[in-house]
Amino acid sequence: MASPPEEKQRPARFLLDGHVVEAADASPTTTLLQYLRGPLGRCGTKEGCAEGDCGACTVVVGEPHGEGMRYRAVNSCIRFVPTLDGKEVVTVESLRAPDGTLHPVQQALVEAHASQCGFCTPGFVMSLFALWLEREAVTREAAVEALSGNLCRCTGYRPILDAAMRMHGLGPSTHWPKGTEHDARRRAQVPVDPQPVRTPGYFAPRTIAALAQAYLEAPDSLLLAGGTDVGLWVTKQLRDLPPILYLGDVAELDRIVEKDGALEIGAAASLTDGYGAIVARYPMLAELAERFGSPPVRNSGTLCGNVANGSPIGDSMPVLIALGSEVVLRRGEQERVLPMEALYLGYRKSAMQPGEFVRAVRVPLPRADRHVATYKISKRRDQDISAVCAAFAFTLRGGNVEEARIAYGGMAATPKRAAAAEDALRGKPWSATSVRAAIEALARDFAPIDDMRASAAYRQRMAGALLERFHAQTTGASA
Ligand SMILES: Cc1cc2nc3c(=O)[nH]c(=O)nc-3n(C[C@H](O)[C@H](O)[C@H](O)COP(=O)(O)OP(=O)(O)OC[C@H]3O[C@@H](n4cnc5c(N)ncnc54)[C@H](O)[C@@H]3O)c2cc1C
Ligand code: FES
Ligand code: FES
Repeated sequence: MASPPEEKQRPARFLLDGHVVEAADASPTTTLLQYLRGPLGRCGTKEGCAEGDCGACTVVVGEPHGEGMRYRAVNSCIRFVPTLDGKEVVTVESLRAPDGTLHPVQQALVEAHASQCGFCTPGFVMSLFALWLEREAVTREAAVEALSGNLCRCTGYRPILDAAMRMHGLGPSTHWPKGTEHDARRRAQVPVDPQPVRTPGYFAPRTIAALAQAYLEAPDSLLLAGGTDVGLWVTKQLRDLPPILYLGDVAELDRIVEKDGALEIGAAASLTDGYGAIVARYPMLAELAERFGSPPVRNSGTLCGNVANGSPIGDSMPVLIALGSEVVLRRGEQERVLPMEALYLGYRKSAMQPGEFVRAVRVPLPRADRHVATYKISKRRDQDISAVCAAFAFTLRGGNVEEARIAYGGMAATPKRAAAAEDALRGKPWSATSVRAAIEALARDFAPIDDMRASAAYRQRMAGALLERFHAQTTGASA
């Protein structure tokens, strides 16, 4: 997909403190962090890990939304500059007023003595700024959740959480007034261009048809969504990427709709929005959504990217498979629909053909007679990768298991259904005896491996224990 010379080239342009930045000197994989600290000379934003884990690089990105703007925290260390076209970037330098008055978020951190070495502080400021914009007051729980992607090694979290609780009480900011009128004014300043971004090695089509055609013509391109996996291939693995085809500028893909008894989540919809829609229908999945990465990771990353990437330890697939979800695949002008489990043929091997991509994921709507749960086992509660992730969707009738769908992550080379355990339960009483038989069957379904996250024996034990837990929760028995 090299850019033919006759195609009009156009670099990305974004808004920064009221000025339009034309990023003509950014390569397709220049990260926003590199660009801020390099050409833009903004060194307030820090690099801690360069892999989305520590939050030192957090900035806020504003996107036109309805009549106004929607601001969200993102990790600038894994976000490529060209993907910021038509958006606003807010950094820690943006918050202080020209006369030196601190923003209420910054003032609250000062008053609560919430900074020592200060290295992590700009990242905390920006995560809190996103929260300050979103709400008029915060609970401690909301602050803990908003800061779950920010690490501090020396201050300790109590003063930082105290600052979060204090910030809304410090009055409005004259420098950053909130509200629809101000958002509409900022929206009017964001650069709008009818031409898609196209530079050597990067193309961001605006329609599904243009994206599908470009991918069909150049199937060796790298399809980029939120970049929360791909970003690390550059910053940690130092890989040279093939030409990038970015799907995030296709407005039609950033849609979540209810259609034909399913929730259809488009390829450009963020994990925040995708999980928001799923949890609104399946409240029991709230914990999984909250424990997936951190808010900045979920704000950039997409649900379809998680599904397409197909990692055996990806967290979305077990529950989506258990629910009977489907993937809508697009290649050129053709679409086909597959049960999600049929997408995974082997370790990182998918059923997608060259030039084919996930256009959307379809999640069946809840049914009153279905019991659903998913459990994630990881070493830390927040911001950690699963050792084992289990998901169950059972229809129970008259004390018997009418339908059992069980899927696991971390137990095989792909996210996988537990076919033998399902067989052991179907039509049987939903009893401790049946659960024991199903646990024995799990040994036929899976031969997990030892790795740094868990031993094979631990994984096998946990797979059974989580089924016992599901039984206990659905029957009221103690586990
Ligand atoms: C700090 C951190 C924490 C994380 N925590 C978790 C976690 O808790 N659980 C978890 O499961 N994952 C986690 N991840 C991994 C990552 O966030 C997810 O896999 C995410 O959903 C990937 O989506 P993306 O849009 O960022 O994909 P990208 O990085 O843009 O793409 C990933 C891969 O999928 C392909 N792709 C993307 N979209 C499509 C499409 N529509 N069709 C075909 N191919 C496509 C790309 O070509 C690429 O190969 C974490 C990542 C980071 C950096
Ligand atoms: S530098 Fe650690 S999350 Fe970006
Ligand atoms: S203040 Fe030193 S790491 Fe947080």
